[in-house]
Amino acid sequence: TAIQRVFSGVQPTGNLHLGNYLGAIANFVKLQETHNCIYCVVDLHAITVWQNPDELTHNIREVTAAFLASGIDPDKHIVFNQSQVAEHAELAWVLNCVARLGWLNRMTQFKEKAGKDRENASVGLYAYPNLMAADILVYRATHVPVGEDQKQHLELARDIAQKFNNDFSESIAAKGYDAKFFPQPEPLITGPATRVMSLRDGSKKMSKSDPSDYSRINLTDDADAIAQKVRKAKTDPEPLPSEEDGLKARPEADNLVGIYAALAGRTKADVLREFGGGQFSTFKSTLVDLSVDKLGPIGNEMKRLMQDPAHVDAVLVKGAGRARAIASETMKAVKNIVGF
Ligand code: ADP
Ligand code: NA
Repeated sequence: TAIQRVFSGVQPTGNLHLGNYLGAIANFVKLQETHNCIYCVVDLHAITVWQNPDELTHNIREVTAAFLASGIDPDKHIVFNQSQVAEHAELAWVLNCVARLGWLNRMTQFKEKAGKDRENASVGLYAYPNLMAADILVYRATHVPVGEDQKQHLELARDIAQKFNNDFSESIAAKGYDAKFFPQPEPLITGPATRVMSLRDGSKKMSKSDPSDYSRINLTDDADAIAQKVRKAKTDPEPLPSEEDGLKARPEADNLVGIYAALAGRTKADVLREFGGGQFSTFKSTLVDLSVDKLGPIGNEMKRLMQDPAHVDAVLVKGAGRARAIASETMKAVKNIVGF
């Protein structure tokens, strides 16, 4: 069977955190062994909300540095930033004309991000899921590793792919393309930490935009910052349960055990076999050591790479060239199919 193609992206919006790492980047690294991978710094997505231009430039390099520092190999796979491959925006326009308003109206992330002042949200924020569909489909990617928060957008991308194939089925056949011109991209939502929660509030996901620094562990945090944040993490007064069932009504406890399991490459059940019955203070010390052990080298390497922006930029330029070669082939076919 042919090697499958993976596409995924991370927004350059600053504050890269443990949720981005465990929910996305750590899985990107693993998939390199089995798939052809395309990893994108999705800067066009970032500007759906206001970005200071100088910070955006810095953050594009920082996400790239996080990819490289985590172990993504830009020679074997493709690493680039979205704005440098015009085909993303070009295909997104065609898909804007395929997707239906009613479909986008159901997207919960828009409702969360737009908040109460929806009239004042950018049109881009609303159409974001169509651009995300274009990102994936322009490479005809088959697998998309993401956190749980992206599940609904992936389902939309599948619907858009199918509707394009149906709307243009005659033209696709007449021009000799495969009837399933766009494959149905499969989400890969795997591991014990597909939704890492805030360290301050077990009902909110860990997020770049949370105003509390103590809500998240950033990839560039040093050992002291990690230790303080883990020690201050909200918990309940009960000891750790010995079985996973005991985590059900305890979101903060569940989150810390999930983080430990993901960082250690173990299951939650296995972690509870070791720590069940013990106090959180003891567990937290072990979690600090593990976090510093796993994240410390990544943060240090990110900082080293950020001292060498020319190198980081060169990686992106080379990646964009290779991405464009694939994307332009798809766009040529799409234009032919649509009748341009
Ligand atoms: P954010 O949601 O923090 O703004 P992005 O939208 O750039 O970050 O998401 C990058 C990747 O990180 C996506 O695959 C997303 O699903 C994943 N991700 C973001 N937050 C979390 C979280 N709290 N837990 C697990 N995965 C997450
Ligand atoms: Na997200």
